[in-house]
Amino acid sequence: MTQTDATAAAASVQGPVLVTGGTGKTGRRVVARLRELGVETRAASRSGETPFDWADPTTWQAALDGVTAVYITPLDASPSPTPAFVEQAVASGVRRLVLLSARGVDVPGYFGPAYEDGGPHGEGERAVRASGVTWTILRPGWFSQNFSEGVFLDGVRDGELALPTGDGRAAFIDADDIADVAVAALTEDGHAGEEYGLSGPRALGIADVLDEIAKETGRRAAYVPVDASAFRAGLVADQGFTDQEAGLWTDALEPITTSREAPVLDGVRRALGREPRDFADFVRDAAARGVWG
Ligand SMILES: NC(=O)c1ccc[n+]([C@@H]2O[C@H](COP(=O)([O-])OP(=O)(O)OC[C@H]3O[C@@H](n4cnc5c(N)ncnc54)[C@H](OP(=O)(O)O)[C@@H]3O)[C@@H](O)[C@H]2O)c1
Repeated sequence: MTQTDATAAAASVQGPVLVTGGTGKTGRRVVARLRELGVETRAASRSGETPFDWADPTTWQAALDGVTAVYITPLDASPSPTPAFVEQAVASGVRRLVLLSARGVDVPGYFGPAYEDGGPHGEGERAVRASGVTWTILRPGWFSQNFSEGVFLDGVRDGELALPTGDGRAAFIDADDIADVAVAALTEDGHAGEEYGLSGPRALGIADVLDEIAKETGRRAAYVPVDASAFRAGLVADQGFTDQEAGLWTDALEPITTSREAPVLDGVRRALGREPRDFADFVRDAAARGVWG
């Protein structure tokens, strides 16, 4: 679709679009793109322009009033608040839902033993499918932006990234691609009932990632592979995680360790008719913004 076609399709969107997680890695990008297309957009979160707290359902209706489409960045909590929100959204007049889920949600145990049935993402997907309105589900793997604005950033900046991921590899997906797919699903026809598995075009180990960043910045962080149980204990001792949080977090990294995140998925091509951005493109842009100093 050309930019002119995209703008014309977006112009036909009736009513404002609500973006939950509107300040987050994908939501912020979805908000920016929708506004560029001239779509009235509410950026909602606890600190966003539109107040919205997953933990406080009394904040939901004001955000939903008049809205016809929602991009759902869910809260990773058990039980998930997404089913109750979806019910309220549909009752409020929402006709289109685009859900940010995760790769592996359909693979039993992918996120570890605590989440046999896909965990909160599984709950969210089931609610969206049963909603009776138009829906699209996005299933990205680990984001490239974890290294530039997420959980791995401090390690990269500090020169040492310690993870229990061994020689495992992942086809990291650029949040800009996720946002492009989300905006297409929110504003165009042709994405109803689609489940888009989203990855980048090639798999990299953590050491490869740090090499790519070093090539661009001249600053090399070391990858320190650590044992999973030591990593988990360190999260509790050094970072104030509860034992349960540390367990979930360690489990979440296992699909990288086992390279289950490595196979390249075709969702970006199916949704957008183009290939996903390469990790090197992500590194070049993030380095130009000075995120690694
Ligand atoms: N990061 C990855 O590699 C990855 C991969 C696959 C799937 N996912 C999934 O993507 C989702 C978002 O992850 P992310 O890494 O993109 O997170 P993120 O960048 O931290 O964004 C989270 C967003 O949710 C908002 N938020 C947090 N708690 C909230 C609450 N109680 N009520 C309302 N809004 C709240 C935050 O804004 P405020 O702080 O202003 O509220 C922020 O806008 C998660 O469900 C995660 O499982 C992530």
